[in-house]
Amino acid sequence: MLRIRICYESGDPERTIEFDPAAAPFSHDGEPGSILDVLLGHGIHLEHACGGKCACTTCHVILKDGEEHLSEQQEEEADELDNAPGLTMHSRLGCQAVVTGDLTIVIPKYTINQA
Ligand code: FES
Repeated sequence: MLRIRICYESGDPERTIEFDPAAAPFSHDGEPGSILDVLLGHGIHLEHACGGKCACTTCHVILKDGEEHLSEQQEEEADELDNAPGLTMHSRLGCQAVVTGDLTIVIPKYTINQA
């Protein structure tokens, strides 16, 4: 079982989910086993305006811990991520980053739709 701890920049209470990566995909959006896929499949909201197609940045998350437990960032993701408000050195697109180990993520307060 893998574990994702989810913190919110907005101050909303944090949550932790545990899941079996072999059960992916959990939902219809994002790469199978991606942060977006896992969160949606566990009833946790993450914006995904483009439907998990690496074309909007609204699924932007910031890694607080466990960044090495994600699939390698591809050029397409890096290019798209450049448009995310509040971009950090530890940012990823939730729909592209596939989870391979335990993580702690922060969901930013603002997405490109709200900024
Ligand atoms: S959902 Fe649009 S880039 Fe991830």
